[in-house]
Amino acid sequence: MDSPVLNQMFRQLFRHPACQSLRRSPPSLSRQTRTFLTRRTPAKPKSQDDAMLWTKRGDYPKNIEEEYKLYPTVTAKELQNRRERPRQVKMLTREFTDDSLYNPHYGYFSKHATIFHPGEPFDFSRIEDEPAFHRLLGQRYTEFEDLLDEVKPDVARQLWHTLTEIFRPYYGETIARYLVSNYKLTLYPYHDLIIYEMGAGNGTMMLNILDFIRDTDYEVYQRTKYKIIEISPALADLQMKNLLDTLNSKGHRDRVEIINRSIFEWDTYVHSPCFFLALEVFDNFGHDSIRYDTKTELPQQGGVLIDADGEFHEFYHTQLDPVAARFLRVRQAAARRPYPSPLGPRLLRGLRSMPPFGNDYTLPEYIPTRLMQFFDVLNQYFPAHRLLASDFSSLPDAVPGLNAPVVQTRYQRQTIPVSTPFVHQGYFDIFYPTDFNVVEDVYRAVTGKLTQVATHEEFMNRWAYIEDTETRNGENPMLTWYKNTSMLMTV
Ligand SMILES: C[S@@+](CC[C@H](N)C(=O)[O-])C[C@H]1O[C@@H](n2cnc3c(N)ncnc32)[C@H](O)[C@@H]1O
Repeated sequence: MDSPVLNQMFRQLFRHPACQSLRRSPPSLSRQTRTFLTRRTPAKPKSQDDAMLWTKRGDYPKNIEEEYKLYPTVTAKELQNRRERPRQVKMLTREFTDDSLYNPHYGYFSKHATIFHPGEPFDFSRIEDEPAFHRLLGQRYTEFEDLLDEVKPDVARQLWHTLTEIFRPYYGETIARYLVSNYKLTLYPYHDLIIYEMGAGNGTMMLNILDFIRDTDYEVYQRTKYKIIEISPALADLQMKNLLDTLNSKGHRDRVEIINRSIFEWDTYVHSPCFFLALEVFDNFGHDSIRYDTKTELPQQGGVLIDADGEFHEFYHTQLDPVAARFLRVRQAAARRPYPSPLGPRLLRGLRSMPPFGNDYTLPEYIPTRLMQFFDVLNQYFPAHRLLASDFSSLPDAVPGLNAPVVQTRYQRQTIPVSTPFVHQGYFDIFYPTDFNVVEDVYRAVTGKLTQVATHEEFMNRWAYIEDTETRNGENPMLTWYKNTSMLMTV
């Protein structure tokens, strides 16, 4: 841990007033959180002809035009072998996000990130009600972290929970029920049951699904293959360790392959029909930031310039790169219904640039460019796939903008949300909501497949044994928590 930088950064964070953030720590466990000192100040274009328009940040009102001309534009891929965070470069927003999260040396997923594992499954038939479950979960969360601290204390440990972990094995069994039913309806006995899971965290979903299939349908189990595609070397190792941990789990060894690679580096053609799981993975995919000129309604693409001192300066460019431009085109062509725009409803648009509003530019919207590229990978290499993806449809405490990310870190077990994605790389989780209406249309356009979107609750009602997660008073946290989560399925 590079502690002088870290200490200075967190001292600054803690000087500022508290606000609430609940994401990825169970609601009952949320702690006092703080806002960040950096504020967006409105961009002032030098002239209408300028292609680059930069945004000053409060504490560093520095003109970056010279640097902008001099510094090279770099991508996350080009920075992969660098051990030091880059300086004197500029990056598009999606590239900065990817570098910040996935750089093998300083990226968020490369070091402090840990996914909570509750140990023994919760016995809901012995839990009085939802508040009692909250308390119990909080207790297990603290115990889990106390144990980690005994082995290796880490004030900057990033600990989150996922649906898979909290409701294990019931959530995994629900997904397994969906997979086996659909397999038997459409593929059995002509094909094997091949499951790809992208981004498998602790490997808990894999174990829960394989246990379930083995215990409920041994014939199908014998024809099941489970392949994980995991970007993080640390998590890929943990998945293998958990697979080999017990006699029971070791029994699945021959069915499992763990491939430590980013999905964006995939280059193998898979002709067989397969199911493709993506559970809470889309939210970390890099997005591009786009704002609009309120007079002309033309888009501009955002990025960040990192100066010689390592300070961040946000900029916008009137020329879109091919990936962002393609997303906007595909979205427009594919949309089956109107989608939200930071320009607001058509009828009111003229007002934005007039006094008293007088804004030259809208707030940014964040567009899921990497997600579109993931659909390209599915289309190109997994032509016979069926996708099952689950993610957040909305998020509280996001940075300003449409479809904007939550950017937060954890320090001494407190969650600290900040107000910009352009913060010290590697210390902040950056995760985005998914607009399932838009994404469903983009997926259909790219892959030519038909789809269905369901809320988490609808999916659970259809496929879960809901009595497994019912508390004694009849409440059911697996159904009613995660109201902001939806599923996208290929049909
Ligand atoms: C929030 S965790 C979710 C883990 C697990 N699916 C669950 O629900 O418990 C996100 C996972 O996706 C992985 N991941 C993120 N981007 C990826 C990529 N481009 N290719 C493969 N795995 C990725 C992360 O390393 C991590 O395992």
